[in-house]
Amino acid sequence: MKSIIILGSTGSIGTNTLDIVQRFPEEFRVVGLTAGGNVDKLEAQIRSFKPKAVAVSTESSAATLRTRCAGLPVEILAGEDGITQVAAMPGAELVISAIVGAAGLVPTLAAIRTGKHIALANKEPMVMAGKLMQDEAHKHGVRIFPVDSEHSAIFQSLEGHRLEDVRRLILTASGGALWTLTKEQLHSVTPERALQHPNWKMGSKITIDSATLMNKGLEVVEARWLFGISESRIDVLVHRESIIHSLVEYEDRSMIAQLGLPDMRTPISYAMRYPERMPLDLPSLDLTEVGKLTFAKPDHDRFPCLNLGYESLRVGGTMPAAMNAANEVAVEAFLNGGVRFIEIADVIRSTMEAHAQREIAGLDDALEADRWAREKAESLVHALPR
Ligand SMILES: NC(=O)c1ccc[n+]([C@@H]2O[C@H](COP(=O)([O-])OP(=O)(O)OC[C@H]3O[C@@H](n4cnc5c(N)ncnc54)[C@H](OP(=O)(O)O)[C@@H]3O)[C@@H](O)[C@H]2O)c1
Repeated sequence: MKSIIILGSTGSIGTNTLDIVQRFPEEFRVVGLTAGGNVDKLEAQIRSFKPKAVAVSTESSAATLRTRCAGLPVEILAGEDGITQVAAMPGAELVISAIVGAAGLVPTLAAIRTGKHIALANKEPMVMAGKLMQDEAHKHGVRIFPVDSEHSAIFQSLEGHRLEDVRRLILTASGGALWTLTKEQLHSVTPERALQHPNWKMGSKITIDSATLMNKGLEVVEARWLFGISESRIDVLVHRESIIHSLVEYEDRSMIAQLGLPDMRTPISYAMRYPERMPLDLPSLDLTEVGKLTFAKPDHDRFPCLNLGYESLRVGGTMPAAMNAANEVAVEAFLNGGVRFIEIADVIRSTMEAHAQREIAGLDDALEADRWAREKAESLVHALPR
């Protein structure tokens, strides 16, 4: 029986993880859960999975939950400190890191520092402080298993091979909701339109990141740190069907890929029970039904955010953290009607141009870059003509 903690249990990855736990109750025990503000969903999860401790973002959400769960044997904590305490609590071997955005950095690092293995969905901390996270994981004997479908595919395609033999990593990209639109049409895209992802049902932030291709920019940075391969050897291939989840090319020009229908339960379960595979009762991929698979080069003119990901790695230090923070601010502003779709890239680029990058010697450097970039990006958003 493996004891697990889920950070971000009320989100898309969190609920998919609990779906797996429900299918294999003899294999996993949930000891800790955390959420932002979705008290209704967390209460239902407490009743079903009986964790020892949970945490939510605010004291008022915690107070509501304490009233509703009075009499249940669960400790209810609040704020970033409370979420971090749950991430670090003793008695768990694996933490599913599935908070969205930079808010996951401190708790995920706390989980690493207390020696728990990580199933990493929350890519933003790896973007902000990838080297620091890997150094800490090394120091504490922790393994970081990728959950992102592309990185899981690469992880699986690397199994049994030597890293020295890898020529390049190829991340596939669905192209998101807006791939077929012209540059002119992108000017008037609404949040509702951008949220209509063709293949994946995900949280709103990552769905917008998919539409801008910033998600792929973040994933290039994530891959650099997860696999220790420089950005010059990481390519992106647009593959609309999301059947090939990513590929590795070896020195002999042989390519190994991982395929499957788009369902996050496959990569989540692989990270949860590595190296064994779970017998998931999901539909099989029928390639005769798919018929053909298509591939295209990324279009950097219509979707400039991907190149910002590469650029952030070339500059290094705190630049990826600044880029990530600016993206979070711009995406939230877009969802709230404060910036237009095509302005998201402008806000990120201008923030990066203004950022004086420093080396990341410790967590505070990443957090300070995040704080600075949020302030800068917010001022840029407010200065936009309306
Ligand atoms: N969804 C996917 O298929 C997918 C695939 C690959 C990678 N990922 C990555 O996995 C992460 C989660 O994505 P998602 O789609 O599951 O997101 P989501 O559905 O929006 O869920 C996010 C989770 O984080 C919690 N949360 C939000 N803000 C928080 C804060 N400030 N402090 C603490 N908790 C907070 C939310 O709580 P409330 O619900 O209470 O607000 C929720 O539990 C992201 O980094 C994403 O890039 C997702």
